[in-house]
Amino acid sequence: MVLTVWGVWYLKNTIEISEYLEPKVVATHYNGENYIAADTCVECHADIFKNHIETAHFNTSAIADEVHVKGVFEEGSNELNLKGVRLKMIADNHNFYQLSKSKFGDTAVVKSKLDIVIGSGVKGQSYLSWENNGLSQIQVSYFEPTNAWVNSPNFPDYAFSRPVDDNCLKCHITFAENKNEAANSNAYNRNKLLLGIDCQRCHGPLEKHVVHHRENPNELKGAYVDRYSNFTRQQRLDACAVCHSGLQAQQVKGNPFSFLAGDTLSEYSKNYQNYNRNLKLDVHGNQMGLLSESECFVNSSKMDCITCHSPHENERGKHNNFNAKCLSCHDIEDINTTAEINKHANSQNCISCHMPLVPSEVMQLKLDDESDAIPVYIRTHLIGIYK
Ligand code: HEC
Ligand code: HEC
Ligand code: HEC
Ligand code: HEC
Ligand code: HEC
Ligand code: HEC
Ligand code: HEC
Repeated sequence: MVLTVWGVWYLKNTIEISEYLEPKVVATHYNGENYIAADTCVECHADIFKNHIETAHFNTSAIADEVHVKGVFEEGSNELNLKGVRLKMIADNHNFYQLSKSKFGDTAVVKSKLDIVIGSGVKGQSYLSWENNGLSQIQVSYFEPTNAWVNSPNFPDYAFSRPVDDNCLKCHITFAENKNEAANSNAYNRNKLLLGIDCQRCHGPLEKHVVHHRENPNELKGAYVDRYSNFTRQQRLDACAVCHSGLQAQQVKGNPFSFLAGDTLSEYSKNYQNYNRNLKLDVHGNQMGLLSESECFVNSSKMDCITCHSPHENERGKHNNFNAKCLSCHDIEDINTTAEINKHANSQNCISCHMPLVPSEVMQLKLDDESDAIPVYIRTHLIGIYK
C-alpha cells in the first residue's frame, strides 16, 4: 500500500519535473535547434521580458484581434474609394474584414478576413489574410498620422492583393516555416508562425539554454547562448542590419530565416549595405546604410546601433536618453570653439538638427483618389549638419 502511494507520488512528480525541465518546443530552425515558447524567458529574465513586451519589436506582428488592430470601423469613416475599387472595413463578432468591390470587370464583393497584423502602429499597419494555406497582404493599410485607411504602399489603385512570400515575414516575425524550403511560395505551416520579434529572433533558438539552466539553477554564467559582447563590431551591426538595411538586399544563401545573430550577413545577403546616399530612402528604413555614411560612424571604431539604442526597451521620444549618447562622445565646449552659426548648449535636442525627420520619397500614401500624396517621415540616420 505504502509502496503504491509512493509509486503514484513518484510518477506524478517525475512527470511534472521532466515537463518543467523540457520547455515547450514551438518550431525548429533550419540548423536543427528548437525554438521554445516566447514567455519561457520570463522566469529567469523577468526585467528584460517586462520591458521587451512594450517595444515596437515585440508588437510588430500579432493575431488580428481587438487589442492589435488599429483603425476606424464606424460607418462613415470605414471606406476607401480608389480609382478602380471601393473598399469597406467592417468589424463583426471580434473579427475584422475588408470588403472589396471592383468598379470594372468582376464586380462581386470579395470578403477578406484580417488574420495577422504587421506593424506596431507607430507609423501604420498592414494586414495579412489566410487564403487556403497561403498568406496574402490585403489592399488596405492603416496610416497612423491621419488615423485613416489607405491603399497599401506600392499597391495599384485597382483591386489587388499580394501573395506574401518571405518578404514582410522575414523582418516582422520571429520565425516562419515555409512549406517550400526555398521560401518562394506563400504557403506556411500555420502552427509554426512565431509572431512578434521576440527574444529568440535576436538570440537564436534557445531550448538547450533553458534546459541547461533549469537543470543547473545555481549556475550564474549563461550557457548555450551567444554573447553579444564577444561579437565583433560587424557581427553586432549585422544582427540589426539583417532587418534595418532597407529592401534592396538580395538573398544569396539559405532561407530568409537562416541568418542568426553572430553570422556574417554578407554571406546571406548581397547589397544589404547601401553606401549611396542618393539612393531613395524608403520607409523600410535603411538605418544601417545611412549610419555607415555618417562622420560619427566613420571616425569612431566602436559605434554600432547599441551605442544609442537599448535593445530591450521602448525609448521612442526619450530625447534626453539620446542626447546623453551624443554627449558621451561630443563636448559642448569643443563644439563651441568652432561652431559659428549655432552656439550649442547641453539642453538642446541634438537630433532635431543633426538627425532630422525627412519625408520618404518611396513611401507616399494617398487617402483617396483626389487627395495629394502624404509622405511618411522617417528619422534619418545620416548624422550631419543640415541647413
Ligand atoms: C532557467 C533559467 C533561464 C531561462 C528560462 C532562460 N535563461 Fe537566459 N540565462 C540564464 C542565466 C542563469 C544566465 C546567466 C546570467 C545572466 O546573464 O543573466 C542567462 C544568460 C542569458 C543571456 C546572456 C548571455 C551573455 O552573457 O551575454 C541571454 C542572451 C539569455 N540568457 C537569453 C535567454 C532567452 C532569450 C531566454 C528565453 C528563450 C532565456 N535566456 C531563458 C538563465 C535562464
Ligand atoms: C527581425 C528583424 C529585426 C531585427 C533583427 C532588428 N529589428 Fe529593429 N525593427 C524591426 C521592425 C520590423 C521594426 C518596426 C516595428 C514596428 O513599429 O512595427 C523595428 C523597429 C526598430 C526601432 C524603432 C522602435 C520604435 O520605438 O519605433 C529601433 C530603434 C530598432 N528597431 C532598433 C534595432 C536594433 C538596435 C537592432 C539590433 C539589436 C534591431 N532593431 C534588430 C525589425 C528588426
Ligand atoms: C528588410 C526588412 C523588412 C521587410 C522585408 C519588410 N519590412 Fe516592414 N519594416 C521594417 C522596418 C525596419 C520597419 C521600421 C522602419 C522604420 O521605422 O524606419 C518597418 C516598418 C513597417 C511598417 C510600419 C510599422 C509601424 O508601426 O510604424 C509596416 C506597416 C510594415 N513595415 C509593413 C511591411 C509589409 C506589409 C511588408 C511586406 C510587403 C514589409 N513591411 C516588409 C523592415 C522590413
Ligand atoms: C532586437 C534584438 C533583441 C531582442 C528582441 C532581445 N535582445 Fe537581448 N540583447 C540584444 C543585444 C544587442 C544585446 C547586447 C547588449 C549590449 O551589448 O549592451 C542583448 C543582451 C541580452 C542579455 C545580456 C545582457 C543584459 O542586458 O543583461 C540578456 C540576458 C538578454 N539580452 C536577454 C533577452 C531576453 C530575455 C529577451 C526577450 C524578452 C531579449 N533579450 C530580446 C538584442 C536583443
Ligand atoms: C561613438 C562616439 C560618437 C557618438 C555617440 C556620436 N558621435 Fe557625432 N561624431 C563622432 C566623431 C568621431 C565625429 C567626427 C568629427 C569629430 O571628431 O568631432 C563626429 C561628427 C559629428 C558631427 C559633424 C558631422 C559632419 O558631417 O561634419 C555632428 C553634427 C555630430 N557628430 C553629431 C552627433 C549627434 C547629434 C550625436 C547623437 C545623436 C552624435 N554625434 C553621436 C563620434 C560620435
Ligand atoms: C548616434 C545615435 C544612434 C545610432 C548609432 C543609431 N541610432 Fe537609431 N535612432 C537614434 C535616434 C536619436 C532616433 C530617434 C528616436 C526617437 O525619435 O524617439 C533613432 C530612431 C531609430 C529608428 C526609428 C526610425 C523612425 O523613423 O522612427 C530605428 C528603426 C532605428 N533608430 C534603428 C537603428 C539601427 C538599426 C541602428 C544601427 C544600424 C541605429 N538605429 C543606430 C539614434 C541612433
Ligand atoms: C538648432 C540646431 C542645432 C542643435 C539643436 C544642435 N546643433 Fe550641433 N550644429 C548645428 C549647426 C548649424 C552646426 C554647424 C556648425 C556651426 O554652427 O557653425 C552644428 C555643428 C555641430 C557639430 C560639429 C562641430 C564642429 O566641430 O564642426 C557637432 C559635433 C554638433 N553640432 C553636435 C551637437 C550636439 C551633441 C547637440 C546636442 C547637444 C547639437 N549639436 C545640437 C546645429 C545644431
